[in-house]
Amino acid sequence: MININSELQIKNSVFKNRVIVPPMASQTADELGYVTNETLNHYHRLATSDASLVLVEYSYVSLDGKSEPKQLGIDSYEKVMGLRQLSNMIKQTRVLAGIQLVHAGAKSTSELTGGKLIAPSPISTPVKGQELEIPLQATLADIEKLKKDFIRAAKIAVHANFDVIEIHAAHGYGINQWLSPITNQRTDQYGGTLYNRARILFEIVSEIRALFPKLIISVRIPGQDHFENGTTTTDSILISKKLVYLGVDIINVSSGIGGWRRPRDRRGEGYLVEDARRIQKHINAPVIGVGGIKTKKYIEENLQNKSFSFAAIGRAILENPIMGKQLLTR
Ligand SMILES: Cc1cc2nc3c(=O)[nH]c(=O)nc-3n(C[C@H](O)[C@H](O)[C@H](O)COP(=O)(O)O)c2cc1C
Repeated sequence: MININSELQIKNSVFKNRVIVPPMASQTADELGYVTNETLNHYHRLATSDASLVLVEYSYVSLDGKSEPKQLGIDSYEKVMGLRQLSNMIKQTRVLAGIQLVHAGAKSTSELTGGKLIAPSPISTPVKGQELEIPLQATLADIEKLKKDFIRAAKIAVHANFDVIEIHAAHGYGINQWLSPITNQRTDQYGGTLYNRARILFEIVSEIRALFPKLIISVRIPGQDHFENGTTTTDSILISKKLVYLGVDIINVSSGIGGWRRPRDRRGEGYLVEDARRIQKHINAPVIGVGGIKTKKYIEENLQNKSFSFAAIGRAILENPIMGKQLLTR
């Protein structure tokens, strides 16, 4: 019977167990987005959890998609060396290394990006307790640039020896703004129907897959926006099916425009797993479930009832990485 220590092979990599560390911004990069010693130490600590995969935090694919001052960047080949040190250090502990690629879109400030904010439509992204800037509507040239930025970032990740790349399409950041009817009100081929709203994501994924047939690609998608008139879990099922068809290996199910924190109507351990379960039932690829997960019992029950194939443990491992090891050995 499947348990927390069951291996799973994806492409050429063996995931040694069913626990992964999800991306968590550490604010340890320098002001230009380079890996520092603090970054290396931080991820060395997370890797001692003995999870099968550590996903390095959201890293901006271009300066105009940066959203925090000490955010890690994956926007230039000059960063390959530091990123390679980071992936090698994680892999030396027999843990697979992944990195999340993000463009913040309108969920940033023009001060931080050093210019304008670009998003699908001139609509400010709703964030609790904050009034964000109204972005400019992306032109077709901006869309081409955005796609190129993601593709260059994937190339940098491969040069830097990462096993997995993850496209961040959740938590209200850039790609989520394209997926959501709240923030995407375009009338061209990148707006309107669900397929049109997801077109930019589909195009990015297809190009990366064509360039790197053996690379493990994960997409972090919103299980739903958790916002009135936002994307629904049915939308996410359809998007996930298409992503898997295009060659995506892992679907990491989190939340949408409302951000990663627990939605008001969700309780307890695995507060976002309900969405993951619905998606896992419909696709033939591993799904990652998340949200306050911390016990072996919960993980094994949900592996056995096929709610997910991997459990992401974020804050509990951040607080005490040894907790991961204890779950896996007990
Ligand atoms: C400090 C911190 C930073 C985070 N940064 C990211 C990030 O870079 N990318 C992302 O997709 N999620 C990010 N998240 C969300 C986590 O990946 C995870 O989904 C969330 O913490 C819920 O899981 P947990 O209850 O196990 O902590 C962050 C969470 C925390 C606590």
